[in-house]
Amino acid sequence: MSPDQQVIHLKHKEGSDVSTKYLAIASGKGGVGKTLLSLSVGKALADSGKKVLIIDADFGLSNVHLMLGINPPKNLADFLFGKATFQDIVVSVTDRFSFISSGSGIQELARLPKDQVMNLVRRLQELAEDNYDFVVFDTPPGIHDDTLSVVSAVDVPIILTTPEPTAVADAYALIKIVSRETQGKDFFLVVNKVESEKEGTKVYESIKLLADRYTKANVIYAGAIKFRKGILRRIIEQSPFDGAFMDDVYNILSKLDLEIPRRKRSFWEAVVSRILGRK
Ligand SMILES: Nc1ncnc2c1ncn2[C@@H]1O[C@H](COP(=O)(O)OP(=O)(O)OP(=O)(O)O)[C@@H](O)[C@H]1O
Ligand SMILES: [Mg+2]
Repeated sequence: MSPDQQVIHLKHKEGSDVSTKYLAIASGKGGVGKTLLSLSVGKALADSGKKVLIIDADFGLSNVHLMLGINPPKNLADFLFGKATFQDIVVSVTDRFSFISSGSGIQELARLPKDQVMNLVRRLQELAEDNYDFVVFDTPPGIHDDTLSVVSAVDVPIILTTPEPTAVADAYALIKIVSRETQGKDFFLVVNKVESEKEGTKVYESIKLLADRYTKANVIYAGAIKFRKGILRRIIEQSPFDGAFMDDVYNILSKLDLEIPRRKRSFWEAVVSRILGRK
């Protein structure tokens, strides 16, 4: 099948009703809690009866599996090089909650011939949309092209920061760059490691002020997560789910628009056209 025929195939799939919702958790600065929040959001959705796939897009230091204490034998890069089947790379955490470690997969994707990219993307789309209600991307720190592709294309971009001024500046920079590309978009801001609710609100207000003045972004406040000393210990013990942290996560989920959409747009098509466009 030629690359053009494959595009048509993908567009055909795109035209069918899709009910899978795509979320991404991104920040400018590293270490703000993206991986912990991705896993906690995944667990909360799975506990409420949804089927969830986490894609660890942290190709530098893939760490979802480290937090869970599950070591996936194969990752997306192995799949790309024909060293694993798709089933090999999907790791079950519970019966409704799975994850894929991307390894260097997303970077490799950009280097592959177009027809191979289309083939991979079609399989990812089918896997995601036939099996999961939600796909959650845990993204790497820094404002990389891959992160921009994913954040631009998802239904629910969650921008995570802490109250630290450098993290706040980087979160705003990420919103600014993505909203320039998407000509305006809703972003859900979460402020982690706060001392008080008020501290979270102040961070939101400072970002909102800049975003309203200088961008087309619509920044929506999804809430704050308190700094909790015990979390580090839980992560060391590879049992990251903390009751109080999960309460904050449930609160945040109630502010997101998580109604499963009936829509005609394909997340994967948006990502791949951006990736192919830069080759
Ligand atoms: N609410 C919190 N209270 C206390 N510690 C926290 C909280 N949230 C995250 N942490 C700690 O912050 C550290 C970084 O968390 P995590 O690995 O999830 O961040 P990240 O944004 O994914 O990092 P990276 O950018 O390197 O991928 C962890 O050690 C975790 O224990
Ligand atoms: Mg991380």
